[in-house]
Amino acid sequence: MQELSLNILDIAQNSVRANASLIGIKVEADTAAERLIITITDNGCGMSAETVAGVMDPFYTTRKTRKVGLGISFFRLAAQQTGGDLTVESELGKGTRVTAWFTLGHIDLAPVGDLEGTVTSLVQCNPDIDFVYTLCVDGQTFEMDTRDMRAILGEVSLAEPQVALFIREYLTENTQEMIPPEFHGGIIPK
Ligand SMILES: Nc1ncnc2c1ncn2[C@@H]1O[C@H](COP(=O)(O)OP(=O)(O)OP(=O)(O)O)[C@@H](O)[C@H]1O
Ligand SMILES: [Mg+2]
Repeated sequence: MQELSLNILDIAQNSVRANASLIGIKVEADTAAERLIITITDNGCGMSAETVAGVMDPFYTTRKTRKVGLGISFFRLAAQQTGGDLTVESELGKGTRVTAWFTLGHIDLAPVGDLEGTVTSLVQCNPDIDFVYTLCVDGQTFEMDTRDMRAILGEVSLAEPQVALFIREYLTENTQEMIPPEFHGGIIPK
C-alpha cells in the first residue's frame, strides 16, 4: 500500500506542471466521524470539462513522454478502497481542486505517511511557488503559508537547505502531537 503523502506529492506535482503560483494542501480529520479529507487546490491553468471527465480514466494523460496518467486514478482508488471517493473540480484559466475522502480506521486505509517531508520537498523543489499547508484534526488547526516565510526570509530562497531543514523541523514540532493514530493506517487495535 502506497502512503497517501506520496499521492499528495503526485497531485501537487500536477499543480506545479499547471503553472500554479499558489498551491493549497489541506488534510482534515474528524476521528469521531471516521472521516479524512485531503484537498489539493491550485490557481494553475485548469482543465476543460472534457479533460476533467477524462482524468478519472487511467489511460488519459496530456503527457507526451508516456501514454498513461495514473496520479489521479491511483489517488481515487486509494480513497475508494476505504469507502470514500475523489472529485476533480476545475475551470480553464482559474485552477483546480482535487478532493479525496477516506474512512479513518478502515482496514484498507493506507498510512498517511510523512506529510512534513512531503510539504518540505514541495517547497524546496519549487521555491517560486507559494504553498499553504493546513492540518486540521478534530477542530484543532495548524497552518503554514510560505508567503509569511518569504516576508521573514527576504532575499533568502526557500530552496536553501537550511530553510528546508527549518521548515521540516517547524512542521514536525507543530503537528506531531496532532497526528491521530488512525493516520498510521488500517484498523486501530482496541
Ligand atoms: N491541477 C491540474 N491542473 C491542470 N491539469 C491537470 C491538473 N491535474 C491533472 N491535470 C491533467 O490531468 C491529466 C492526468 O493527471 P494524472 O496525474 O492522473 O496523470 P499525469 O500527471 O498525466 O501522469 P502521472 O501522474 O502518472 O505522472 C494530466 O496529464 C493533466 O492534463
Ligand atoms: Mg500526475
